[in-house]
Amino acid sequence: MLHFSNQELATAHHVSVRTVRNWIEAAKAGKLNLTLHTIGERTYIANTSRNTAVIQELVIKGKKYRPHRSQKVVSPKPEFYKIYSQEQIYDIVSRLDIFHEIQHQYNYFASGAVNWDEYNQQLYDDKALNSVTAAINLLESNKSYLEDIVSKYKYVNVIDIGEGNALPAKKLLKQLLDLDKLGRYVSLSTSSSMLEIARRNVHEWFGESVTFESHEIDINHDRFMHIIAKEYVKKEYDETVNILLLFGGTLGNLRSPEGALRVIHDSMGAKDFLLYEKKLDSITTRRFFDFNPESDNTTLAPIFGFVVDILNIDRACYEVELGYDQDRKERYERIKLKIDLTIKFEFDGGRRTIHLNKDDTILVWRSRQQTALDVINQFDMNDFHPLHTSQTDDQEYIFVVSRIKRD
Ligand SMILES: C[S@@+](CC[C@H](N)C(=O)[O-])C[C@H]1O[C@@H](n2cnc3c(N)ncnc32)[C@H](O)[C@@H]1O
Repeated sequence: MLHFSNQELATAHHVSVRTVRNWIEAAKAGKLNLTLHTIGERTYIANTSRNTAVIQELVIKGKKYRPHRSQKVVSPKPEFYKIYSQEQIYDIVSRLDIFHEIQHQYNYFASGAVNWDEYNQQLYDDKALNSVTAAINLLESNKSYLEDIVSKYKYVNVIDIGEGNALPAKKLLKQLLDLDKLGRYVSLSTSSSMLEIARRNVHEWFGESVTFESHEIDINHDRFMHIIAKEYVKKEYDETVNILLLFGGTLGNLRSPEGALRVIHDSMGAKDFLLYEKKLDSITTRRFFDFNPESDNTTLAPIFGFVVDILNIDRACYEVELGYDQDRKERYERIKLKIDLTIKFEFDGGRRTIHLNKDDTILVWRSRQQTALDVINQFDMNDFHPLHTSQTDDQEYIFVVSRIKRD
């Protein structure tokens, strides 16, 4: 009889191998209606469509058959409910439940934003090439190209998607101010805390010469044409162009970068330019995990640990795993539970409890690895027309300028 290996089921359903073994034990004990297949001393779950349906239901319900073992029950810290909106809490809980993932974007809130600002400031001050200095260098080396493409416009609006602390945009804003062309500077981010840090920085650098405009949006699903196309119905429209920035790891940190690219595409006007910067795939970058001041990599880096901490998942409950997922072509950081863990969430209209087993992993960060050709193809497939690309000398970072394709 055809059967699934335990690892195969664990990977397909985002559960641990231990959970699969528990299903088998529960089926042997008659508590679960699964057809088993035994080879010698080993028992497996048979590869039947009914078994697949039963497993899918088990996973959806989050129901884990486990032997009676001690387990830890936690509730998020009170700040959790103050920092995130109900919609964001639904998003966090459902992703944790379905994919065993804490989306990285929720780490940029409250003191998590401060952690990230400090980390980014260190990168900025560093002489070595990193995601911040690479963006700045690539803007600098493409300065005359950029001046050329905006030359026929009187005003240039800069739309910074996932602006962080706005450091990568600083020189470009100065350049446009010097050309007397800077129109609006608009920051878009999920995090009000990050937007506040960017606002403070822009004010400190430029005083009243730059008006800081910000909007809380999630590029996974919120189109923003209504924000950036204000001039569309005004007489200044012909004289104005939008330059959108998408720098750093923001896109590659998402579960579906393509979904977000579509949202960005559908928010852009025909004249607008998207400037994109990204770290490229190589054998070296697949092993790049230099995020943690406590360089032993056994603790979660502060820029990845904010949500885990606020969920009240104690450091003693997990170990940290770093690696490269060959199938998804992603670097990842995740935590592996040392105990069974139950997290109780409160909502305005009720509660939801998530059960996780010992050895289950929770992904806290992902970064899509792509070659230069992968990046160009990704833009092409999502109906962008790449006009211009360049790379840093060491070929570790790419810069792409695109417009949306027109039929
Ligand atoms: C990796 S940082 C990049 C910051 C900056 N662009 C740079 O290169 O230094 C990610 C930024 O994007 C924001 N962000 C992350 N996910 C987002 C999402 N789904 N929608 C909107 N903003 C997001 C974060 O709040 C943060 O400001």
